[in-house]
Amino acid sequence: METIQLDLRNVKGQRRAVEAQIQQAADLILAGELVGIPTETVYGLGANGLDAKAVAKIFEAKGRPQDNPLILHVAGAQWLPKYCKDIPLEAYSLARKFWPGPLTLVLKRADVVPDITTAGLDTVGVRCPDHGVTLSIIREAGVPVAAPSANLSGRPSCTSAQDVREDMDGKIAAIVDGGPCTVGVESTIVDLTCTPPKLLRTGGVSVEALEQVLGTITVDAGAVAPLADGVAPKAPGMKYRHYAPKAPVTVVTGAGEESANVIQKQLQPGDGVICFHEFAPRFKGYVVQDLGAMNDKQVQAQRVFEALRAFDDTDVKRIFAQCPDNRGLGLAIGNRLKKAAGFQVITPKEKPVILGLTGGTGSGKTSALKAISALGGEVLDCDAMYHEMLQSDKAMVADLKAMFPNAFDERGVLNRKQLGSEVFSNPVRLDQLNEIVFNHMGKEVKRRLATSEHVLLAIDAINLLESGIAKQCHATIAVTSPAELRVKRITMRDGIDELYAHLRINAQKPDGYYRAKCDYELENDVASSEEFQEKATTFFKHIIGKLQEENQHG
Ligand code: TXA
Ligand code: MG
Repeated sequence: METIQLDLRNVKGQRRAVEAQIQQAADLILAGELVGIPTETVYGLGANGLDAKAVAKIFEAKGRPQDNPLILHVAGAQWLPKYCKDIPLEAYSLARKFWPGPLTLVLKRADVVPDITTAGLDTVGVRCPDHGVTLSIIREAGVPVAAPSANLSGRPSCTSAQDVREDMDGKIAAIVDGGPCTVGVESTIVDLTCTPPKLLRTGGVSVEALEQVLGTITVDAGAVAPLADGVAPKAPGMKYRHYAPKAPVTVVTGAGEESANVIQKQLQPGDGVICFHEFAPRFKGYVVQDLGAMNDKQVQAQRVFEALRAFDDTDVKRIFAQCPDNRGLGLAIGNRLKKAAGFQVITPKEKPVILGLTGGTGSGKTSALKAISALGGEVLDCDAMYHEMLQSDKAMVADLKAMFPNAFDERGVLNRKQLGSEVFSNPVRLDQLNEIVFNHMGKEVKRRLATSEHVLLAIDAINLLESGIAKQCHATIAVTSPAELRVKRITMRDGIDELYAHLRINAQKPDGYYRAKCDYELENDVASSEEFQEKATTFFKHIIGKLQEENQHG
């Protein structure tokens, strides 16, 4: 069969010619033929969705498994009652907000829709595509157009008429060229036959945007992750190997800089790379597909299938791909890349966020640190660390012995009282002690940070600022509290009287000192420790979010 080309890229000012070609495409569809049609997501392989024989040709041309249902493309929400039953109100709210556009609604099917179109399911996927040419063809034909993506089964989807010809030349009656697809990834699929609605496939409409209309939605396991053996996805198509170039793909997640580093280490001559625009110069000498700027997910979505397809014209042996984060369109782009990789994914260790906490006694550091633990963080308590190091850190003990020989008994055991009295009223000796302790403590903190598996760490140190350990933190936080509250807490906690509590507080640096020197202040001005822990949690979440963002981009 000769596949004719209808060029409708430029539809301005040529009404007659355009109308004739749209008519021709609609006639072919009504005659039971297959036509490659442009949409804003990807090109579709269209047939009359009510004509079982025509629909059968789709499965044959694509090599598509028979159990994988097709989406019906309609001209607007007013067509829904013809092909669907029991339509919930949400369907119309979603259509009003997102149609024409990249959203497919799964609804109960009406009897006119043949079994082959829905692969025997009692539901049907429906969407109104946002492409003037295809909308005109659907209106002209007056039937819903069943259309899967126009690629051969298993290959990346087609985002240009040229891609369609590559896969379908000679197999279908016509290809309508409507220019490159503006969205570039397929429609989001949401099942409205269950409560709450369920996301079956990520796509051109983000989860965040859907939730604005629907409230919370559930996400089908098959939509975002590889399925465990024996688990059936709700969208049958999600179980098949998909989008895959001939060469094996490995996706590397994480911030741009990190994933680029990981890829650089993996690369061997003959490999290919899909990377963000900013990193392309790093991969000179390899076959590179530029996915678009790191922060431009719209372009990344437009480019992702083309990038995957392009490698099939080369002889690269392996492909490594950077991956956007999961927000907005990033979820769908990452999903397509991961599916192309058969979920072969490298996840670089996340850069941890390191907070330094300091402040005087009774201000509530302990409650603040409980909030850190509750957020899954690890707390490094420098006071406890110091006591451990006196037992185990031979280098520190040797330095102390050399500087304070009188503080050690004949067996070489430290007498802490003796050491205390030597430095208590002698600032020079105190400085000498601090210099030794801070030096070894700094090294120990560094070692513990490097070996921690946690992505959130808090260092608790009264001498955080003086010891230089603050330099190892992404942010320093002063925990402060009004004096009268501190007195109350100390008297309760340590069973001492108010006068003594005042003396203890006055012997320490004032809140103002910590406030001036730290990046943030967390003020404990509430009555109970539970209340403060809650306040601290909100405060830390905010700072952690900010720092994670900074870690990502620098
Ligand atoms: O953006 C798009 O949706 C493109 C363009 C051409 O409109 N079409 C598209 O169709 O991606 P296709 O056939 O490649 O993918 C349709 C997906 C499959 O995973 C299929 O299993 C699922 O939709 N699907 C279709 N009808 C369904 C139904 N009634 N229930 C659950 N999943 C359904
Ligand atoms: Mg497809």
